[in-house]
Amino acid sequence: MTLPTNPAPIGIFDSGYGGLTIFEKIQKQLPQYDYIYLGDNARAPYGTRSFEVVYDYTLQCVKKLFDLGCHLVILACNTASAKALRTIQQNDLPNIDPSRRVLGIIRPTSEIIGEITQSKHVGLLGTSGTIQSNSYPMEVAKIFPEVNIVSHACPMWVPLIENGEHQSEGADFFIKKDIDTLLSKNNNIDTLILGCTHYPLILEKIKKYLPSNINIISQGDIVGQSLKDYLNRHPEIETKCSKNAHIEFLTTESADKFNASAALFLNKKINAKHINIL
Ligand code: DGL
Repeated sequence: MTLPTNPAPIGIFDSGYGGLTIFEKIQKQLPQYDYIYLGDNARAPYGTRSFEVVYDYTLQCVKKLFDLGCHLVILACNTASAKALRTIQQNDLPNIDPSRRVLGIIRPTSEIIGEITQSKHVGLLGTSGTIQSNSYPMEVAKIFPEVNIVSHACPMWVPLIENGEHQSEGADFFIKKDIDTLLSKNNNIDTLILGCTHYPLILEKIKKYLPSNINIISQGDIVGQSLKDYLNRHPEIETKCSKNAHIEFLTTESADKFNASAALFLNKKINAKHINIL
C-alpha cells in the first residue's frame, strides 16, 4: 500500500494513557502543529510483556500512524522506546519508507542527564521491561560514561494508576517500598529519572518519600525541547508536519473509557475515537 505524502499531523504513540504526560508538554512547546495521539489501551500495559510482543504491537501502531499520513512518530513510551525503537529504525523503516521518522524518549533524557547530576549517581525507576532492557544505562554511557545509573523496576505502579488506585494508602505502600529499595542500592543518588510516562501522576507521593535534595527529572519538558530542536535541525521533516493546531485522540479501547481516564492525565475533557489496528 502506498502511504499518503501530504503534510500531516505528528504521531504520538503510547501503550495507553501515559504518553499523554509527554504529549501535553510537547503540545505546550509546539502548539502550532497537528497531532494524532494513539493509545493502544486495549493491549496495555506493555511494561511486563516480552521484547517480541512489545516490538510487534509498537510496529503495528507505528504503521497505523503512517497509514494515517504521519511522517514523524514519537514513541512517547519508555517501554516501547526501550524494546522496539532501534529495530523499527534500523530494520523496518528502510522497507516501509526511508523518509519517515520514528523517535523515542530515552535518548533525549539521556542526552541531558550528565549535565544535571553533580554526584554522577542517577536513580532510574521504570517498568520491568524498561529496566531489564538496560537501555538507559547504555544510552547514558555513550554520552556520559562517568555517570552511574542505579535502576529499580516498579511493576505495581502502572497497574495502581491504570486502576485509579494511585491516591490510595495501598499506593503509598508500594511507592515508599520501591523508593526505599532504590535508595538502599546507592546513597549518593542526587537525580531521579521517572522512566515511565505514567509516573508524573504520582509525583506528589514520590516527593513525599524521596529526600528533598534529589532532583526529579521531568521527561515531558525534555522531550518537548528536544523535538523542537529536532524540527529546527530537520526542515525536510518539519515541512511535512501540518500546522493547524488540530489534535485527534485515537484508542484501541472504547472511546468512552479513554475519555474518562484521559481526563485524569490531561486535566481536561477530550473526545477520542476508537480505532482498530489490525
Ligand atoms: N507508558 C509506559 C512507559 O513509559 C508504561 C505503561 C505500560 O506498561 O504500558 O514505560
